[in-house]
Amino acid sequence: MGNPTHNPVALVTGATTGIGYELSKLLAADGYSLILVARNSNLLQQRQKELEADYGISVQPIALDLARPDAVKVLTDRLKDRLSDIEILINNAGFGKLGAFWETDPETVVDMIQVNVTALVALTRAILPYMLQQGKGSILNVASTAAFSPGPYMAVYYASKAFVVSFSEALADELRGTGVTVTTLCPGPTRTEFQIRAGQDPQKPFPILPMMSAGAVARVAYRSLKRGQRMVIPGLMNRLSVLSSRLMPRRLSSLIIKWIQSRR
Ligand SMILES: NC(=O)c1ccc[n+]([C@@H]2O[C@H](COP(=O)([O-])OP(=O)(O)OC[C@H]3O[C@@H](n4cnc5c(N)ncnc54)[C@H](OP(=O)(O)O)[C@@H]3O)[C@@H](O)[C@H]2O)c1
Repeated sequence: MGNPTHNPVALVTGATTGIGYELSKLLAADGYSLILVARNSNLLQQRQKELEADYGISVQPIALDLARPDAVKVLTDRLKDRLSDIEILINNAGFGKLGAFWETDPETVVDMIQVNVTALVALTRAILPYMLQQGKGSILNVASTAAFSPGPYMAVYYASKAFVVSFSEALADELRGTGVTVTTLCPGPTRTEFQIRAGQDPQKPFPILPMMSAGAVARVAYRSLKRGQRMVIPGLMNRLSVLSSRLMPRRLSSLIIKWIQSRR
């Protein structure tokens, strides 16, 4: 099929709501043809119509559950003829679950690792060789400020984001000088569907850290992606919280997170 319009192409996972949707709008405004991935096919089609009408770009919606072990194979098979056109890859899809680890549904635990970690790594591995062939490309991996501390009562989520940070920073260094960049986005609390899906009470926000809007997070992230910046933490308070997690003994930051999460 190729890219008949010759617009640059961006692939965004988790593009229907929250940060991924806001990033999709910024990409569309810049003239990117979009490949959007999420599970809810009705909402995907709605996003396709909106973005095509508002920005005059083309959107390929792909309804796919990234928790499926074969998800990235299914996705790359469907995109066979377009993989070499992708200039921007945004690995944004992800979710968390509040609760004691041993009480969390066992399938949910595995799905979380599959979506937050495995799909992100596999998709990066699938698309990166094409970017290297072209000598250019930008990858944005969405982690979290949660990556910098153990997270009791959200243990798997925090650990999955720690993986994303470590993996993405290492890859950024491997890729130095190739024309391909990897940017790690570490948002703090952001007003999206995330809290409800995680089973958190939206009336009990994370203390001290103000909730940012998804639009504000996406704007900072997009600017950093364009610059090829290695890591971006939107919001001064979020940057300070990451700094304090880095300076504090891990045992202490773990106990603070345990206290906070047990009250949400
Ligand atoms: N909101 C926050 O406070 C916060 C803070 C730090 C980091 N983050 C990270 O930011 C990223 C975006 O989250 P958000 O806050 O924008 O949440 P959101 O509004 O819940 O958006 C999540 C997106 O991912 C998609 N998705 C979820 N599970 C999927 C699956 N199994 N397969 C395919 N797509 C899936 C959702 O669509 P479908 O349901 O239709 O699949 C949706 O488009 C996540 O990686 C999250 O961990 C969020």
